[in-house]
Amino acid sequence: MKEALSLAGKVAVVTGAGRGIGKSIALTFAGAGADLAICARSQEEIDQVGAAITALGRRVIAKAIDLTNTELTRSFCEAVIHEFGAVDVIVNNAGAYLERGAFADSDPELWWKTMEVNVRGPYLVTRHLVEAMRPGGKIINLTSGKGFMAGANSSAYHVSKAALNMMTNALANELWQRDIDVNHLIPGPTATATFDNAKPGEERSPEEILSTGADALPKGLPAWERVKHPDEVAMMALQMAAWPIGGPTGQIFSLARRPM
Ligand SMILES: NC(=O)c1ccc[n+]([C@@H]2O[C@H](COP(=O)([O-])OP(=O)(O)OC[C@H]3O[C@@H](n4cnc5c(N)ncnc54)[C@H](OP(=O)(O)O)[C@@H]3O)[C@@H](O)[C@H]2O)c1
Repeated sequence: MKEALSLAGKVAVVTGAGRGIGKSIALTFAGAGADLAICARSQEEIDQVGAAITALGRRVIAKAIDLTNTELTRSFCEAVIHEFGAVDVIVNNAGAYLERGAFADSDPELWWKTMEVNVRGPYLVTRHLVEAMRPGGKIINLTSGKGFMAGANSSAYHVSKAALNMMTNALANELWQRDIDVNHLIPGPTATATFDNAKPGEERSPEEILSTGADALPKGLPAWERVKHPDEVAMMALQMAAWPIGGPTGQIFSLARRPM
């Protein structure tokens, strides 16, 4: 099983890898032997993660791009193919949670921006890279329980994740013929800046968030739910990425501790 979790010789693309879950996934994949292509908007954060991947002895392309920019996203993907020739794993992780209020109060620009980051971003990255994927490839889309069963408020996030879920299933139905698996990954509550709703410059580390114990758990969740460290989500992503050819496809992998 240890060998099954190796990504030696593989090329993985992880979006939104500057911090949070994406950073943990990128570093975990590099530790398992993958070469990486990573992106996020913050130059400083993406450079730091890129340097850490290099220090692990892996090749890396680290670009500061906004995935809502069609041309920059295309040129990032072209650089990936130019540098590595082929891709084995795509993790569509970058996500935006720009609106948390009621539908009637929502800002139309932020509502649609959420769709652009959470739906059009994964669409563009996958569209530009899918032809370069090798058999045995994996596409892992970071989704949310809210994409399957919406609650009140944050409608843009819920709708965007539901759309991403349908893209995941549609792709799974097409790509099985090329031996490429496409699956959903639900982190459940995870200690990151988005989870913490942190203002820029006021982000807390996962350890700081987790140190508050049960208080970190959002209201409305059952007491047996638990806020996780991003590295725990990365463990699941590694399992999904390293699965041998012919693995599960169109499936939901969740770290939540409650029925969805
Ligand atoms: N944390 C949770 O509890 C939780 C629960 C369920 C699902 N998820 C999902 O898990 C994924 C990761 O979330 P997270 O909590 O790790 O968030 P995070 O800590 O805020 O990290 C998000 C990453 O995405 C990047 N990003 C955001 N907008 C971007 C854009 N337009 N272009 C390029 N990169 C962009 C961010 O960097 P820049 O800001 O520098 O661009 C950052 O690197 C998301 O899809 C989220 O919906 C998280």
